[in-house]
Amino acid sequence: MSRVVVLTDLHIRAEPEPGKPDADARLLSAIDHINRYQSDADLVIVTGDLAHSGERAAYDKLASHLTRLALPHVLMLGNHDNRAAFLDAFPQISPDENGHVQQVVDLPEARLICLDTLNGPPYSYPFSHLGVLCAERLAWLDAALSGTDRPCILFMHHPAHKTGFAAMDAIMLMHGPAFYDRILAHGNVAHIVCGHVHRTISGSHRGVPFSIFKSLVGQMPMLFDLMDFHMETDEPPAYGLLMISDDGVVAHSEDFGLTDLDALRAASPQNASSQPK
Ligand SMILES: [Fe+2]
Ligand SMILES: [Fe+2]
Repeated sequence: MSRVVVLTDLHIRAEPEPGKPDADARLLSAIDHINRYQSDADLVIVTGDLAHSGERAAYDKLASHLTRLALPHVLMLGNHDNRAAFLDAFPQISPDENGHVQQVVDLPEARLICLDTLNGPPYSYPFSHLGVLCAERLAWLDAALSGTDRPCILFMHHPAHKTGFAAMDAIMLMHGPAFYDRILAHGNVAHIVCGHVHRTISGSHRGVPFSIFKSLVGQMPMLFDLMDFHMETDEPPAYGLLMISDDGVVAHSEDFGLTDLDALRAASPQNASSQPK
């Protein structure tokens, strides 16, 4: 079995913003938890919105924070990112032949396909908050899906279908139905993992299961009708954990700040007799 940790929507800021959660502290806390409790995972995938405003200084801070992460990691881009500033700060990361930050990771049980859905440059907000897969990126995706006999798991910042939140549905991936037509024609997408919505959401769309995970710095309140995509509430952050076997995908979400797991384990010795709950 392979294990993949999913972090999303870090929103690192060049300077802390008064009244907002400390994105640096949240990320370092998540990294410490992952190092402590998920050390047997194969890798960490960060599904975009790495920086809040796409500044080089924010990416420099992110690079520094990630030196503390013991696991290998894949960084992806979201609508708050800036591809050029990101690549300046991470010169070891090579974009694809068309300049997009995309890559494939082959695990024994599945092919992981990490897509770049950032709509820019130019970055013209609010239009650039919409996700996009241009013809070049779709061709890259076709090749990635065709080049394996393993089931494929897609990682993409923007969901390609509505989640019920009016504001976020307005900035989902453009041309979602055509995207689903395309992947269903391949017939080998086993699961899709997204961020962007800042909330734990799961289900299926046109028969393809999906998981969306929480942000580290602010969650979407369950107010479906509000047309304010900056609306957020400071509920506990979480990271995702995918357990990938030949039989499928199990998706966990861990609100890592809530429970002292070491204390719980110490209070409940492995071989102690106890009544089941
Ligand atoms: Fe975000
Ligand atoms: Fe986003």
